[in-house]
Amino acid sequence: MKILKIAVVSMALVLGASIGSAAMAQQAGDQKSLYERVGGLNGITVVVDDFINRLVVNKTLNKNPAIDAGRKRSPAPYLKFQVSQLVCEATGGPCKYTGKAMKDSHAHLNISEKEWGVMAGEFKKSLDKFKVPAAEQKELFDIVGKTKADIVVRK
Ligand code: HEM
Repeated sequence: MKILKIAVVSMALVLGASIGSAAMAQQAGDQKSLYERVGGLNGITVVVDDFINRLVVNKTLNKNPAIDAGRKRSPAPYLKFQVSQLVCEATGGPCKYTGKAMKDSHAHLNISEKEWGVMAGEFKKSLDKFKVPAAEQKELFDIVGKTKADIVVRK
């Protein structure tokens, strides 16, 4: 009788644990990474392509001679590749960003608060154009915002 009781209790524990872990797995499965929610590299490269196309012709940004010189040094396709890799990694994707640190690639560009604002406005236009939902836009802005202290040097 004692053995039966132990067996029943153990079965209940095993069953309870497996239902619990299945529920947890389901929960984890529901919470897709930002990378997946924005459509992986397919979605990221399309948005980055549009975004860089807007930036390289932006008159306000190109008025800054250091940015203009940087554009000539780093061609648009190169920037698109690097920024896509960076966004892919930062959103939880399988990429490995191999470019320079944000400080090393921007400190010499003498970027101001105003220029940062212009960049953010163009980013928003690209996100809206491809109908990236508000929640994902916010997460992407949070990621980009973390680089601001390394990029904006002119107050
Ligand atoms: C006002 C804002 C920004 C401007 C005007 C700007 C402009 C530039 C320019 C001109 C370059 C080439 C630099 C050179 O060759 O000397 C560059 C490189 C790069 N930028 Fe930006 N950028 C801005 C913000 C950002 C942000 C927010 C990110 C990503 C979150 C970013 C990611 C990159 C990357 C990955 C590179 C290439 C780094 C490398 O060469 O390894 N930039 N940027």
